[in-house]
Formats: sequence, structure tokens, C-alpha cells
Amino acid sequence: MASNFDKMINRKGTGSIKWDAVKEVFGTEDILPMWVADMDFPVAQEITEAIRKRLEHPIFGYTKPWKSVINSVVERVKRKYDWKIKPEWVVFTPGVVPAISTAIKAFSSPGDEVILQGPVYYPFWDAIRENGCHIANNRLKLENGKYVMDYEDLKNKFAPKKLLFPEPSGVKIAILCNPHNPGGRMWSKEEQQKFGEIVLKHNAVVISDEIHSEIVLSDKKHIPFASISKEFEQNSITCLSPSKTFNIAGFSVSSIIIPNEKLRTEFVRATGHMLGKVSVLSLVALESAYREGDKWLSELLSYLKENLEFLLKYFEENIPEVKVIKPEGTYLVWLDFRKLGMNGKELSEFLIEKAKVGLDDGYLFGPSGEGFARINIACPRSVLKEGLSRIAKAVKEIGSDIV
Ligand SMILES: Cc1ncc(COP(=O)(O)O)c(C=O)c1O
Repeated sequence: MASNFDKMINRKGTGSIKWDAVKEVFGTEDILPMWVADMDFPVAQEITEAIRKRLEHPIFGYTKPWKSVINSVVERVKRKYDWKIKPEWVVFTPGVVPAISTAIKAFSSPGDEVILQGPVYYPFWDAIRENGCHIANNRLKLENGKYVMDYEDLKNKFAPKKLLFPEPSGVKIAILCNPHNPGGRMWSKEEQQKFGEIVLKHNAVVISDEIHSEIVLSDKKHIPFASISKEFEQNSITCLSPSKTFNIAGFSVSSIIIPNEKLRTEFVRATGHMLGKVSVLSLVALESAYREGDKWLSELLSYLKENLEFLLKYFEENIPEVKVIKPEGTYLVWLDFRKLGMNGKELSEFLIEKAKVGLDDGYLFGPSGEGFARINIACPRSVLKEGLSRIAKAVKEIGSDIV
């Protein structure tokens, strides 16, 4: 049976951050939430069935990832990206953000620097700071409506500090977000190659966050950073998860691929007792998603592509003042409101109070995100339409003030 993504399901009262934390986050109940990166769609029936089946066994004790669950990751990575990984490289964690924070703890010391590429997913900034490290922001450049990397700046991040007695740079890690959130770029092999060569030349480790890798809205193919060469494989970790793709973020499960034994040992040691184990039901959900979810996924991707087309047309025809950064991947769309001449706080107030939509404020993604906002299009088309018409109405009302 084909999935019905048009159907609106009431998520209020289910502990949904997106719907139930609206008052805390936006200060008012009467907004349409289009923020947090999960989807307003029911999961594949196969996943629900697999969980139901596991519930028939009445004991839910401490859980060790079993062979077929590990192999479901190995097989998927081979099938999707033609990257051959070994079962022992797979480390399960309860989420990608905790894994990134653990990796920073494992591969750096307080006072070191960690590269990220702003504007970028805001927990990266906190994860670096919370580990006592400094942020080296290798800002992306927005060229003709598309984000590109600044390799000269990246090289400069590794240049010795210009002190009286020059010190080597303290960069130990570079975080790659591929596909990029919020810019939606799916980095090409050439782009990643240039990035990787610069980073590895200076003995830093790459943390490649590929959580959105299966949400492809273009004709591009996702290329895992580590799959590009043996050298990249040995000097990076890859963060994967079915959470975005199959809408199971509430299960908190991810698989971190760490081919280098030394890095893997350091990572596992750093998890200590802080990270906790992955739950039995989350592993059931992961295996079922990876083994049985492809039909649902292909229907989902068709729906999301149509949502994106709808949004692009809507902005062009009704809100031309706002420029859309067209994503190649992810169901998140980065909107450029800078023509409205508002600073980050003013834009935030405008979207909440005038448009009555709950988006993610651009400035949270870094200084170059000021004047932007991120919208989540993984919702029934009727909801998307309603959100966009609210934005259009609010922009029309300030019409003559637009700079
Ligand atoms: C790039 C990126 N990484 C990680 C996460 C969250 O990962 P998790 O929920 O597994 O911690 C998100 C969620 O939006 C994301 O966009």
C-alpha cells in the first residue's frame, strides 16, 4: 500500500519537541511549528511491525547489538554507497550529537581548535565549546545561491599563530557536515577531496556527520568522506543514523563508523559511562528500517521532492523578496530574508509575531546565518502551504519597508 504523506496526524500530547515545546521555544502557542528536523509523517509499517513483534518477548534487559543488526549497517553502506566496511568498525551510540561531542573529547584536549563550516547545525558550536576547545570557523561562501568551501581560509586555519615566537596551529579536528545543514549541499568528491587533503596534511581528524545522507532531493549521489581513499578512511569517523531518513529520531540510535583501531579505542574509551547504551527497541527499529524500509523511503523522497518544487514555485511567485537556497539534500530549506533589512532578533520576532510560523533562527547557525531562517518541509503539503501563505501575508504587510 502506498504511504499517505498528505494525511495530517496530530502530534500534540505525544511528547514531540516540535509540537509540544512550542510555548517554551517561541513564547506563544499560536504558531505553526516548522522547525526541529523530524517529519510529520508516520513511519514505515515494517518498523512498527518489527517493534510490535519484539514486544511479544516480555524481557527487556541490557542489550548487546546482535550480529544481524551490525550487518544491516554494513550491508546498507555497501548497497547505498559502495563503501565496504567491516562489522568491527561499527560503534552504536544513542545519537549523533553525543557521538560528535564524545569524538571531540577523545581526539582533542581543552584549548585545542576544532574547525566547522558556518553557517552550520548549531549543536556543533556547543559541542566544541563544552569540551573546552576553540571554534575555528571556516565560513562557507554563498556564491550564486549555492554554498561553496573556502579552501584558502581552510589552509589559513592551520597556519602557525603569528605570535612573537610562532606556535603551530592548535587544530586537531575538522567537522564536515555532508549533506550540509542548513545549506543543503551534498559535497562532491572533488570538494571533499580538497577539504580532506588540507585537513589530513596537518594531521587533524575529520568527523563527518552524514546523518542526512539518504535524503537526496537532487540527481546527486551521496559520497561518504571516508569512502574516497584509504587515507581518508583511516583518519576520519563517519556518523550515520536512520533517524532522519526513517523518522525515528525518538529512538535515539546512530552508528558511528571508525575504521582506524586507535581512533576507535580512544572513542570507545571516551564514551565511558557518560553516553549510555543503545536501547533494544531502537536497534530493532534500526535493523527493520535498513532492511525493510526502502519502498517507504522511495515514496517519501518523491513526496519531499514535490514539496520542494511547491516551495520554490511559491516563493518565486508570491514572496520574491525572500531568496531560497535550493537544497540538493535534506528536507531543510535555508531561506534568505536579508532583503527585509532586519537583524536576527527582529527577523525572529517578525516570523513569530507577524507570520506566526516557528522556524529555526538563522543566527543560531553562526554569524553568517544572520538574516536567514530554516524551514522544515517534511510535512503534509497542506501544512507547507499554510506556513508559506502565513509568511507571504506577513511580508506583504511590510511591503514598502523592504530595503
Ligand atoms: C547535521 C545533524 N547532525 C545531527 C543531528 C541530530 O542527531 P541526533 O539526534 O542523532 O543526536 C541533526 C538533527 O537535526 C543534524 O541535522
